[in-house]
Amino acid sequence: MSQPAPSSASPLVTSASGDLFARAQAVTPGGVNSPVRAFNAVGGTPRFIESARGPYLTDVDGNEYVDLVASWGPMLLGHAHPEVLGAVSEAVARGTSYGTPTRPEVELAEEIVARTPVEKVRLVSSGTEATMSAIRLARGFTGRELVVKFAGCYHGHVDSLLASAGSGLATFAVPGTPGVPAASTAATLVLPYNDTGAVEAVFEEHGDAIACVITEAAPGNMGVVPPAPAFNAFLAETCTRHGALFVSDEVMTGFRVTRSGQWGLDGAVEGWRPDLVTFGKVMGGGFPAAAFGGRADVMGMLSPEGPVYQAGTLSGNPVATTAGLATLRLATDEVYRHLDTTSLALQEEVGKAFRAAGLPHLVQSNGNMFSVFFVEEDVTAVPNFEVASTQNLERFKVFFHAMLEQGVYLPPSAFEAWFLSAAHDDRALDRVVAALPAAARAAAAVPATPEGAR
Ligand SMILES: Cc1ncc(COP(=O)(O)O)c(C=O)c1O
Repeated sequence: MSQPAPSSASPLVTSASGDLFARAQAVTPGGVNSPVRAFNAVGGTPRFIESARGPYLTDVDGNEYVDLVASWGPMLLGHAHPEVLGAVSEAVARGTSYGTPTRPEVELAEEIVARTPVEKVRLVSSGTEATMSAIRLARGFTGRELVVKFAGCYHGHVDSLLASAGSGLATFAVPGTPGVPAASTAATLVLPYNDTGAVEAVFEEHGDAIACVITEAAPGNMGVVPPAPAFNAFLAETCTRHGALFVSDEVMTGFRVTRSGQWGLDGAVEGWRPDLVTFGKVMGGGFPAAAFGGRADVMGMLSPEGPVYQAGTLSGNPVATTAGLATLRLATDEVYRHLDTTSLALQEEVGKAFRAAGLPHLVQSNGNMFSVFFVEEDVTAVPNFEVASTQNLERFKVFFHAMLEQGVYLPPSAFEAWFLSAAHDDRALDRVVAALPAAARAAAAVPATPEGAR
């Protein structure tokens, strides 16, 4: 963070984004193809992005932003990385989809198996497909139906996982959204994250009927809430003891927090292995590619080797797998060192600016992923969704827009991780750091949320 940062005094022009948003709303529900993009949590007009390069986004009005979303995680190397683009251009010139096996999908699967604890892997097109298929496979392998998940962990829009806790800890879940039949969540149990007692209680009551526990390997979808020390090891051991499978969802953390993912941070250290793992985001290099994999005996139950059906017209698509492969091959130890250092530096700058403004907050990190919780001073840790939900969302809204107006694109929700890339250099960071004090002061001016109304 060496160079002086440019200041941007005047509000950004957003008329072309506004026009596109109006047109989009006429033809698409909410004007977007995935809800969080609509800015509903922060208000205002979403920015329609025209292009991106390195750590920067440029919107249709010509405004440039330092990007701290990275397409919600995938863009580990930054946008439009020349070597990824080169590999993709060559792949596209050879045709875009054949519906046959291809070389890049074999090489991508080999790369995943080499970097992670999985022995065999099946490629799919989205993280949702990966978790949905992993659960079907866990049920098929164990011959059991119940699935345990944690409140605040997001695994995509799988019916059985869009579930809210029932009335008691060991009671079955209820649909988390209209459109999900009660029957789909009736075999799901939702527990508070990081709560070993709650896990023990459900296994005591339902242990011989539980097919799997699925958890974000380290949650990033309620803000960053790291697993308590040995929590993943405890889950793996509890599953094994009861004949259930441990499904570690690494869609967000996979290939992002280490060369493998969260397993490289705690699994390898604590000596446990997941039975099944789901991947997505980084492994697609900005294209729709995802995967699930794990123990060879479990994966052997999958069609056509075994009886559990799963398929996809565009699974293992040659362009998507080429982009993913190029990205993973470029994701060297040096990239992860850069991400760790940069993330730490930015976390410190956020803390400095917030303290100077007298803005109560908590920064939580897991490897190079981190988020800022707008909680009151008495909250010293956010271990689960219940505590994450005590955030002052009005302060976040004001902070978000003050950063946006100064050319910093943060996730438009208080419950999301901030993502960096290998392309975030001193110049990009200086721009973020320069924007922080004014945004922190603006947020600090918002009154504390009255108790009970949070
Ligand atoms: C941990 C986790 N699992 C699964 C998903 C679903 O992935 P997709 O959006 O590709 O369906 C996400 C998406 O954010 C995620 O963060």
